[in-house]
Amino acid sequence: MKHLHYIITLILILSAGIAKAGEGMWIPMLLQYNEKEMQEMGMKITAEDIYSINHSSLKDAIVLFGGGCTGEIVSDYGLLLTNHHCGYDHIQKHSSVEHDYLTNGFWAMNRGEELPCPGLSVIFLREMRDVTERILTGITVDMSEDERQAKIEDNIKKTIAAIEKETPYKVSIKPFFLGNEYYLLLNEVYTDVRLVGCPPSNIGKFGGDTDNWVWPRHTGDFSVFRVYADKDGHPAVYSADNVPYKPAKHLDISLKGAEEGDFAFVFGYPARTNEYLPAVAVDQEANLIDPITVDLRGKVLDIYNKYQEQDPKVRIQYASKHASIGNGWKKWMGVTEGINHFHGVEKKQAFEKDFQEWALGARNRYMYIDLLNNFEKNYKELEPYELAYTYMAEAGLRIELINFAGRFAKLSEVTKDTPQEDINRMVDNLKTTVKNFFKDYYEPIDREVATMLIGEYLKAQPADFRPDFLNDIKDVDDYVDKLFSKSMFTDEAKVKDVLDNFKAKDTKKLANDPAMKVYQSMIGFYRSEVYDHIVSLNDNIDRMRRLYMKGQMDMQPDKRFYPDANFTLRVTYGKVEGFKPQDGKTYRHFTTLEGIMEKENPDIYDYVVEPKLKELYNKKDYGRYADKDGTMHVAFTASVHTTGGNSGSPILNAEGQLLGLNFDRCWEGTMSDLIYDPDICRNISVDIRYVLFIIDKFAGARHLVDEMTIVE
Ligand code: ARG
Ligand code: ASP
Repeated sequence: MKHLHYIITLILILSAGIAKAGEGMWIPMLLQYNEKEMQEMGMKITAEDIYSINHSSLKDAIVLFGGGCTGEIVSDYGLLLTNHHCGYDHIQKHSSVEHDYLTNGFWAMNRGEELPCPGLSVIFLREMRDVTERILTGITVDMSEDERQAKIEDNIKKTIAAIEKETPYKVSIKPFFLGNEYYLLLNEVYTDVRLVGCPPSNIGKFGGDTDNWVWPRHTGDFSVFRVYADKDGHPAVYSADNVPYKPAKHLDISLKGAEEGDFAFVFGYPARTNEYLPAVAVDQEANLIDPITVDLRGKVLDIYNKYQEQDPKVRIQYASKHASIGNGWKKWMGVTEGINHFHGVEKKQAFEKDFQEWALGARNRYMYIDLLNNFEKNYKELEPYELAYTYMAEAGLRIELINFAGRFAKLSEVTKDTPQEDINRMVDNLKTTVKNFFKDYYEPIDREVATMLIGEYLKAQPADFRPDFLNDIKDVDDYVDKLFSKSMFTDEAKVKDVLDNFKAKDTKKLANDPAMKVYQSMIGFYRSEVYDHIVSLNDNIDRMRRLYMKGQMDMQPDKRFYPDANFTLRVTYGKVEGFKPQDGKTYRHFTTLEGIMEKENPDIYDYVVEPKLKELYNKKDYGRYADKDGTMHVAFTASVHTTGGNSGSPILNAEGQLLGLNFDRCWEGTMSDLIYDPDICRNISVDIRYVLFIIDKFAGARHLVDEMTIVE
């Protein structure tokens, strides 16, 4: 009887403080604690089916792709799916004017045509273990932070060395819960990965930066690769003799689609979240730093747009710069909007009030009493330095001329004692830099950007706390004019000339250049006035965050906590569902090919539709990939907690079958990296049926679909 009581209490405890469904990035080896909730939400498989070290499980099909995305294996021959934007670099590297795979797509019609991708690797997680006790052995409360760090590093080194003796895998140890727990990861890294296929950009990147972070979305954001191994299935460097990798498990693919409300989960590698920050930090990020960054980037993008619209050459030159500046710009706009809409700061403050009361409630909680005050103090102290850093990065170094000059800083500092070989090596690298820079450089844009950014920099940073060069400026237009006309870094021939036969005595030519002087003024200011403060304040903050994390866990012993994302494999789950982004506005959870035709505009680059796709649409030639409603579904949203790095991750149904590839979030919910709100945070995936339709019907690469396991 007593026993039963214990079990009931345990069940109550486990189901009490459950994080809101949808929220959470769970450690796969601990998924048994989520299993019940997942099954209640509709899951038909078990935690063991997802992660097991005793038999094959879904985890054997998931990889960290290229260091920044997720990929999944979908056949017994190492066939891998990820996003188009994840394969982009490699697609681009194989592209030339004659073979423009970015524009036209690429399809290997047999294995011999698959393209090796030097530098690309995929990582399989073979096993993870909790090593917290081992790593925290010998740690005491009275240790200084340095002593603690040294001890932990020593424990990590020893543990890795010991485990390395007993395993063929790559061993690493990572902190979780901000250093309150440590897990060991056994990984296997495969380096022969080949490009198998990708759609043209006007499918793989349909909607481009205009639609980025936005729902409704119609992007066929996928590409196909294949992992190769040696004859025994082990990792091997590229060789023509390598064979397709045979996984312990590949994902099955469902052609059934998903209905609103269906259970779904994402299995992949989220990179970074900060869910346990104090209110002051969230406020600083969402209401100070992000808006400044958004404002500066928005002004830069306006200038890019103006010139890009005028000239197709400039449009291409600035496409990639536009994409990378624009990605953060739109995301952080959403963060600020979301935090305020959701009253994120106030909610954190309300929690902190409770926390403080709790801390004062018992003597053994003394270490938490000053925590919130100290956060306040440290973050406030950090503020001017964060601002200085933000302006340096977003205003100063955003000027291409200054950034480019900075690439020569090392060379400008060589002396007659530097071996000529070293100098030659630097020069060789710089020659490539120079070529790449000028290929995509348009001086009128940069001049206008510089005038605008220097003006903003001057306005925002007080005279006694900014790089010297700013204080020498009388008239910004005039200053920029002189800077650009006098610097050699705007002139490819001059830069090449200096690099040819470069000797130590030539450093003056670099060091005295006005653009280099601006660069040095900024870096000098940062080094002498900013850097040390940022490091030491962040040291304090890291220590306090670790303690605060522990405090939150101590205070809510019944709540199931998940650790912030740290580029380790996680499971996150929720439902396929649309949302209401604003009063009066409702978003359906899926889009169709109809929407692509609605968006079509031959004059707008992002909305050009491939003739072949139109033909298939007109004939409604969707084959078995059509939804039961007769349309071709393209993308769908779900309330699954994802972040950067989850791109390319499989989104799976209740049976663990592939429904689609995650590739983005709705910008209204990008605050999910700081606070998750199940009402407004949605991830976006491309429907696997659209992916297969493109491979099979559009590209005629049916042989790839035939390798996969399709569940109709
Ligand atoms: N916003 C997505 C992410 O953060 C996709 C970015 C790539 N797509 C684009 N149109 N730029 O990575
Ligand atoms: N687009 C992101 C990625 O590339 C995913 C996200 O931030 O939601 O990983």
